[in-house]
Amino acid sequence: MGNIVVYIALFHLSIVIAEIPTRQLFGSPNVAPDPKADSPALPNIPPARLPKPCQATEPEAGSPALPPIPPANSPNEESRGRVFDVTEYGAVADGEKESSSAFLAAWKAACNYAGNATFLIPEGIFLLGPISFDGPCLNNLSPNIEIRGTLLAPGSLDAFPSSAWIAFRNLYGFNLTGSGTGKARIDGKGEVEAWKRSSCEKSMNCNRLVASLYFFEVSHATISNITLANSKGFHLNIYVSDNIDVYNVNISAPPDSPNTDGVHIGESSNITIASSTIGVGDDCVSIGPGSINISVSGIQCGPGHGISIGSLGKYKNEKDVIGIKIENCTINGTQNGVRVKTWPGSPPGRASNITFQDISMINVSNPIIIDQDYCPSSSCNKSKPSMVKLTDILIKNITGTYNTKSAVSLLCSSGVPCQNIHLVDIKLNYTGPELGRLALGHLSTRGNVKGLKISNSKF
Ligand SMILES: *[C@@H]1O[C@H](CO)[C@@H](O)[C@H](O)[C@H]1NC(C)=O
Ligand SMILES: *[C@@H]1O[C@H](CO)[C@@H](O)[C@H](O)[C@H]1NC(C)=O
Ligand SMILES: *[C@@H]1O[C@H](CO)[C@@H](O)[C@H](O)[C@H]1NC(C)=O
Ligand SMILES: *[C@@H]1O[C@H](CO)[C@@H](O)[C@H](O)[C@H]1NC(C)=O
Ligand SMILES: *[C@@H]1O[C@H](CO)[C@@H](O)[C@H](O)[C@H]1NC(C)=O
Ligand SMILES: *[C@@H]1O[C@H](CO)[C@@H](O)[C@H](O)[C@H]1NC(C)=O
Ligand SMILES: *[C@@H]1O[C@H](CO)[C@@H](O)[C@H](O)[C@H]1NC(C)=O
Ligand SMILES: *[C@@H]1O[C@H](CO)[C@@H](O)[C@H](O)[C@H]1NC(C)=O
Ligand SMILES: *[C@@H]1O[C@H](CO)[C@@H](O)[C@H](O)[C@H]1NC(C)=O
Ligand SMILES: *[C@@H]1O[C@H](CO)[C@@H](O)[C@H](O)[C@H]1NC(C)=O
Ligand SMILES: *[C@@H]1O[C@H](CO)[C@@H](O)[C@H](O)[C@H]1NC(C)=O
Ligand SMILES: *[C@@H]1O[C@H](CO)[C@@H](O)[C@H](O)[C@H]1NC(C)=O
Repeated sequence: MGNIVVYIALFHLSIVIAEIPTRQLFGSPNVAPDPKADSPALPNIPPARLPKPCQATEPEAGSPALPPIPPANSPNEESRGRVFDVTEYGAVADGEKESSSAFLAAWKAACNYAGNATFLIPEGIFLLGPISFDGPCLNNLSPNIEIRGTLLAPGSLDAFPSSAWIAFRNLYGFNLTGSGTGKARIDGKGEVEAWKRSSCEKSMNCNRLVASLYFFEVSHATISNITLANSKGFHLNIYVSDNIDVYNVNISAPPDSPNTDGVHIGESSNITIASSTIGVGDDCVSIGPGSINISVSGIQCGPGHGISIGSLGKYKNEKDVIGIKIENCTINGTQNGVRVKTWPGSPPGRASNITFQDISMINVSNPIIIDQDYCPSSSCNKSKPSMVKLTDILIKNITGTYNTKSAVSLLCSSGVPCQNIHLVDIKLNYTGPELGRLALGHLSTRGNVKGLKISNSKF
């Protein structure tokens, strides 16, 4: 089979292509490779179905300090309840003394407290090793978590026995909130070692990606008003969790820092990511297998690789992706805009009911892209198509500028068709270097596309 690229230049067009058979449109357009072998999606922390309440754990740490009697406090807000301040348990805000055991002692006391409790990290800089805040807490109600200071991770990867820095597991019903001033900062120190060592460009086995905040089996929680920076891996990883709202969060890492996704979601339901600014070296938001009913809105994304569904089909027995809505976002200076990516040679899977809407693109390379040949590490089975079936994708009201030959790339599988892809009100202007040349194509398609509709669009 030849490598024929099909580009169709579109000017004020309104078309309906009922079906594009595999061999008719076949080619490989101009898609920048994503320099990552993608997430080792399954973090290697074992599930923590804990027998007793509040088993806080500190991987590979010395014996924790005995918890002092919690200080009496005079809460001005009822719901804040009793405050458990980590400095009252021996944490030192000098940025040098490792404070994990003090944090765990404060957590244990707060988690076992019979009443409303707030776990407080006051202003100052705390050096914190890998730590896991585990529940369930007393009466299955977690303390709220209030962050006013800065948390610094150790620079060395050897300090991390698992793929999380700060984990929250088996917890129900809490608010994690920062002071929202930029002072509530969680700094993963990825620049010290992790970004140099854990690049997944060449290797499938890059399992030393340490997420800064990792939520596992967490339910009914909010995360707001914090800044995350320079993670060794994902900044925020929400996995096997449900009913979580993330908002007013700033996330930043350099554009060339590998695998530093802003927010990753996997095997989780009813998750909202809103009103946040994310500029990283990988996807601003990535939505992995088993994600159901996810809303992403009001995100300023860039630099980075845009907002992605996927990658999908890397592993066996992945769960379906259903009901994803990405809306009201600005994507600026990124490699991709909105993207669905699946691996070639994959086991069967499904992703359906996906909407990308009201998105403004500024100088994006591939503003709209479905890539079913996603293979960043060059170590996948490209001889077989992806078997992840994509259906019911609405892409509506996307405006702005792009700088490559393809505004819209539908690189579908030849094995299972992309079905019911609707592009409506797409208004994208080419601003790249070849402006004025006739050879530009703005739509490229490949594989099996069934039920493609394009209306009221110009790109
Ligand atoms: C606990 O906090 C809730 C709000 O989260 C509040 O309605 C309730 O009154 C508080 N209870 C006590 C005992 O302070
Ligand atoms: C979390 O915050 C929301 C909104 O401020 C509030 O309604 C809810 O009671 C809080 N939850 C807890 C457990 O304090
Ligand atoms: C977030 O921070 C702002 C100040 O920037 C503050 O007004 C607001 O109450 C904070 N929200 C929460 C949930 O703490
Ligand atoms: C996020 O960054 C903006 C701009 O720097 C700042 O105004 C805002 O307070 C920050 N928000 C948080 C949660 O730190
Ligand atoms: C989707 O999740 C949101 C919360 O993020 C919830 O309000 C809504 O009811 C859910 N919808 C469905 C169909 O589950
Ligand atoms: C998601 O939200 C809907 C609507 O509120 C609810 O019916 C469903 O149980 C939720 N799913 C999970 C896994 O919590
Ligand atoms: C869109 O997102 C911006 C933040 O980027 C927010 O200020 C605005 O209220 C949102 N608008 C709607 C209609 O959701
Ligand atoms: C599609 O997903 C949205 C959530 O993004 C949900 O509200 C809606 O009910 C779903 N529609 C269908 C037909 O499943
Ligand atoms: C887009 O990003 C560039 C480079 O960071 C910046 O100069 C510009 O102000 C941004 N544009 C908007 C509209 O945010
Ligand atoms: C289209 O999206 C932009 C945001 O990119 C929004 O401001 C505008 O209101 C949307 N238009 C319609 C008709 O909804
Ligand atoms: C647009 O993006 C291209 C490629 O990413 C970059 O080289 C160029 O400097 C950007 N232009 C502007 C105005 O930011
Ligand atoms: C795109 O070009 C049209 C003219 O063809 C112009 O009206 C519109 O403002 C441009 N949009 C952007 C985002 O540059």
